[in-house]
Amino acid sequence: MSRSKPFLDTLAGVPQPVPPIWLMRQAGRYLPEYRALRTKAKNFLDFCFTPELATEATLQPIRRYGFDAAILFSDILVIPHALGQKVSFREGTGPVLAALGDMHDVEALEVQGAAERLASVYQTVRNVKQALPANVALIGFAGAPWTVATYMIEGGSSREFAKVKRVAYGNPEGFAQLIDKIVAATADYLCAQVTAGAEALQIFDSWAGVLPDDAFERWCIAATKELVKKVRERHPTVPIIGFPRGAGPMYIAYAKHCGVTAISLDTTVPLAWAAKELQTLLPVQGNLDPQILVTGGTGLSGAVDRVIGALGKGPFVFNLGHGIVPETPPEHVAALVEQVRAAAKGRP
Ligand code: CP3
Repeated sequence: MSRSKPFLDTLAGVPQPVPPIWLMRQAGRYLPEYRALRTKAKNFLDFCFTPELATEATLQPIRRYGFDAAILFSDILVIPHALGQKVSFREGTGPVLAALGDMHDVEALEVQGAAERLASVYQTVRNVKQALPANVALIGFAGAPWTVATYMIEGGSSREFAKVKRVAYGNPEGFAQLIDKIVAATADYLCAQVTAGAEALQIFDSWAGVLPDDAFERWCIAATKELVKKVRERHPTVPIIGFPRGAGPMYIAYAKHCGVTAISLDTTVPLAWAAKELQTLLPVQGNLDPQILVTGGTGLSGAVDRVIGALGKGPFVFNLGHGIVPETPPEHVAALVEQVRAAAKGRP
């Protein structure tokens, strides 16, 4: 087995003496060089769709910290955009979409050609792949069907998910049509990322945790399983990490039934439980609280030790339980990386 990319070796099930590390949202506003780069595009989608800028954003955290994996700089909401929905990002408010109102709006979404409309993203993948150091892997990603559907129906971020739940519960056949369209476009999009050079994929189901168990099985597990199946038809060996954030005890069913290679743990997943119930099924990734990375100090170092102590013996990728927040001091990230890299010290 190749020893050159510890992140990929871990996903293949081989525990590493020093856990590989990357962080969700490792490119972003907490970095001064990101904020400077961001001023060069007039809006966030243009930024994602300009390969020179997106390539640089992807590489910035690699240069600064030497992470074991880079994650493509893009967003999960490029899929609604590619399907023809109006998407914009507003400073302070977050994403704003022209919410789908009825089945006519769902029927108007254009799966045909959607992945091709994201060609600039694949150019970013090719650029990054060429520029990365030999031991650093490149991760492609997309949103999970359920999470993307929440934004498409709510018209942005939500607290209660009232609209999307009423559609999913009240008109499951209609909602399934939307989910099927997202799955088809996302599968093509992920496959194109792999063809362009992505070596692993992550599926972000950020709002998996808001559904009761039967709805979780249908709209998170079954939809993700279908997406994974469609990707694997064309790329049978690509490692896929699933992130069903907030799924609680349903993490087990998700790990067993989606067909993913590895599973990303949110901050609330108990470590001992994860070691016993999940890491025995699949490699795991996670799950430091992003807020303790803001506070830093001995709280941070103690929390890092706890995570590595619980999960470091099996196949394990060090990460956060959710994305880095903009208030994070960049020097706390440097301290974190140093501590994780020192984890092998004292071992035979
Ligand atoms: O470094 C990386 O992680 C790569 C890039 C990346 C972004 N978004 C860039 C981004 C990734 C992997 C995402 C995923 C994403 N986007 C998710 C899933 C993960 C999660 O956080 O739960 C979700 C739900 C989104 C949707 C989204 N994009 C929201 C809700 C927002 C606004 C809130 C915010 O953090 O500002 C975005 C904007 C966004 N996507 C930014 C970045 C760096 C900030 C906007 C900016 O820089 O102007």
